[in-house]
Amino acid sequence: MADPPPEIDALVSQLTRAEKLSLVRGTRDPEGTATGYLAGVERLDVPPFRLVDGPLGVRAEGERSTAFPASLATAASFDPALSREQAAAMAREATAHGQHALLAPGVNIVRVPHCGRNFEYLSEDPVLASEIGRALVEGIHDEDVVATVKHFVANNQETNRTAVSADVDERTLRELYLPPFRAAVEAGVGSVMTAYNRVNGTHMSDHEPLVTDLLKDEWGFDGYVVSDWYGLETTVGAANAGLDLEMPGVPVEPETGDADEFEWPDGIPDATRAGLFGDPLATAVDDGSVSADRLDDMVSRVLGQMARIGLLDGTERTGELDSQRHRDLAERVAARGTVLLDNDGVLPLSDDADVALVGPHVHEAKLGGGGSSETTPFVSRSPVDGLKSRATGSVTTARGVEAIESVSLFDLLPFVEGGRDDERSAPDGDPSLSDAVDAAANADAAVVVVRDATTEARDRDALSLPGRQDELVSAVAAANDQTVVVLRSGGPVETPWRDDVAAIVECWYPGQSDGDALASVLYGDRDPGGRLPVTFAPTETYPTSDERRFPGVDGVAHYDEGVFVGYRYFDATDSVPTYPFGHGHSYATFEYGDAVAIDESTVEVSVENVASRRGREVVQAYVRPPSVDGVERPRRELAGFESLSLSPGESRTVSLSLNDLAFSRYDADRGWTVDAGAYTVEIARSARDVRETVTIDR
Ligand code: NOJ
Repeated sequence: MADPPPEIDALVSQLTRAEKLSLVRGTRDPEGTATGYLAGVERLDVPPFRLVDGPLGVRAEGERSTAFPASLATAASFDPALSREQAAAMAREATAHGQHALLAPGVNIVRVPHCGRNFEYLSEDPVLASEIGRALVEGIHDEDVVATVKHFVANNQETNRTAVSADVDERTLRELYLPPFRAAVEAGVGSVMTAYNRVNGTHMSDHEPLVTDLLKDEWGFDGYVVSDWYGLETTVGAANAGLDLEMPGVPVEPETGDADEFEWPDGIPDATRAGLFGDPLATAVDDGSVSADRLDDMVSRVLGQMARIGLLDGTERTGELDSQRHRDLAERVAARGTVLLDNDGVLPLSDDADVALVGPHVHEAKLGGGGSSETTPFVSRSPVDGLKSRATGSVTTARGVEAIESVSLFDLLPFVEGGRDDERSAPDGDPSLSDAVDAAANADAAVVVVRDATTEARDRDALSLPGRQDELVSAVAAANDQTVVVLRSGGPVETPWRDDVAAIVECWYPGQSDGDALASVLYGDRDPGGRLPVTFAPTETYPTSDERRFPGVDGVAHYDEGVFVGYRYFDATDSVPTYPFGHGHSYATFEYGDAVAIDESTVEVSVENVASRRGREVVQAYVRPPSVDGVERPRRELAGFESLSLSPGESRTVSLSLNDLAFSRYDADRGWTVDAGAYTVEIARSARDVRETVTIDR
């Protein structure tokens, strides 16, 4: 157990047993806005402590906040500095809502393309997820709010999420799933949320080897570990495993029917079970099965974070909500996360082009996926709003096919309220495919906007677009050879019509500024700044296309693919992805000079913009290890990246710092190991587009 600072120690020594217990178990927020609440100890001037969701903006119950782009879009920016700005803005909004801890960022590795929460996560790659995650933690802490990195660990699917065991070997955990959490700890994260699932048979809230031995002792994490909501399995097991705070701590009673008879849908924790850190913990401390020191440690960790953000000095907290700079930032991140997958020259659109804007949801902004990250914004801009205010040519709209039903975990529960409340409904009348085709045939260019529907607590059952959207794209493309498809998805989707369209743009879930960000990219006011943080590939070629691996059999998801996740798997199987990790076009064109190794972890390369327009390039460095007998390693691993914006004809030298992770492998007996030999560093535009190489000896 870490020694708390003396002032916290002194405070803890003044607390009664009951007061200590009240600081490790949530209760109801009298104001009803917080996702989790501690009442504080008035007698000792310890104020209430409010925790709030989540990664896409602040979900204070019944309140509005800026709806930022989904985390996957933020990560697609490959821009830690901008990610940090977004996180700081979310933290200012949390403060404006009287909240103190943000339940973000989510840093689980995108292992399964179907996972319903991929939009809340960052990448299939641990270095990208670590760098963006670290920046998000720093941004939240910049504004004196506690960041909560989640969900620790191996929460990579929603199917059976409250019970499934992720059976994964130590090397894979260390090399792939743990690094983003470790980066968060290095960044000084204040809180870690345990996952609902089990790892190698043990529920994460009870997982002493991972929570105490690794997170706290080996990595030196000195904040508090909070359970996921209703995610606590045991009292003694959890307290002794290192869990510090139970949330929400109070049970929910179904308003309708008998709680015992209510059948909890898959993926939904039993919300009638809460309070394990209430009386049962008091009893456990009395009978010695949990030590009094452990309880003091739990309390110290919570108070330590309250002190760190200034809550115990009574400092006045002023936040900022829905300011112009937050609106602008939401738009900037959305554009910077937009990935231009294909372009045969139709983009950027000319200002005066007559455009047919087609799709079942062109009248609403795509805010996010379903679940605890749902944020209700003050303003939102649909594709129609964005294109109509930007275009000088005409913009004709048609829905084409029936709306895609959005799904939310809140709909699954008759007695838990939540979710956003302002999705705009479509105009009256039935959509008509022939109206869409006519509009496209009579326009200079057609823009077809399509989406998937994902939510927490459910995985997608297919990577194809739901409803009749593929049919819509094909029909429009047949009517107009200048068809641009705009995807909004929470991960990879299938694009069977890609050879028939002129351009494809992936916006993920762009948030409240959807339409304005989209128009700025389509008309070339901004360069499409994003690159793919996940591989797009045919469904059957993913490593998790086998039931044993996903969703698992007999309650176990076997991580048999080991470290071969995402592009590492496509390299190992020599299969060709539809769009590789790191891919994304700029409107400009770049040429690379020779790469030079400056030292064993720095490479420099010059990049020149040879186009006649300004553009943004994301320079990526992958490391190829030397081969070692008996050791299987990924062919290449992302080691670093840098982005830069260049004017026409401008050239600049980029310095890339290479992350040690890409050189190291974890050996169960020897720990982290760097094999001696020559490492090839590939300077690339994607995992499949290598421009220069240089060798580093280690
Ligand atoms: C469950 C989700 O898994 C977690 O991410 C969220 O923060 C909590 N619910 C609170 O809403």
